[in-house]
Amino acid sequence: MSTPSMTLFHNPASPFVRKVMVLLHETGQTDRVALQLSQLSPVSPDPVLNQDNPLGKIPALRLADGNVLYDSRVILDYLDQQHVGNPLIPAEGTARWRRLTLAALADGIMDAAVMVRYELALRAPEKHWPEWLDAQREKIRRALSVLEADAIAELTCHFDVAAISVACALGYLDLRHPDLHWRDAQPQLAAWYFEVSQRPSMLATVPKV
Ligand code: BEZ
Repeated sequence: MSTPSMTLFHNPASPFVRKVMVLLHETGQTDRVALQLSQLSPVSPDPVLNQDNPLGKIPALRLADGNVLYDSRVILDYLDQQHVGNPLIPAEGTARWRRLTLAALADGIMDAAVMVRYELALRAPEKHWPEWLDAQREKIRRALSVLEADAIAELTCHFDVAAISVACALGYLDLRHPDLHWRDAQPQLAAWYFEVSQRPSMLATVPKV
């Protein structure tokens, strides 16, 4: 095992961190990264992280030269250029924009799902904003239905940036929002997720929280 040359600000529950971890596993780079646990929320920041990422968000990746990369999309792009196997982000052409757009759709699911989680877990029930919560859940439902209708074949053909991002978004829904029962309206997505969740990279990054 080599000595890690990079440090990843990490929390196992974060779906954005999980994307980075899955890519590290898929590309054989886990030994290159030391994990620094960051316990944070919007109202309890991590002062150590804030020194490296003024936005106070994870993941952030400190490189060997001291430079720090954020956010997860930038980190994935960087790490994908550090291995010799097939790229997980297409370098150019239509495939690049399509796969990155699917990844952005998955990131949008994560954004909405994390926001709902914070609202429900951190704010007193009497301060919850039901219309806002419903609007976030609608975003998630719309995005899932587009994946079900338009993207199953594309997700099935490569476990790349698009598939990794969707898999991590679905994993987070299972973790924090089982009440959404996302499988009910997305049976093909559920079958695809069942398969990919058996990959070693996904099994190794299941959040134990
Ligand atoms: C969570 O516990 O759900 C969580 C933790 C860190 C980042 C995002 C979500």
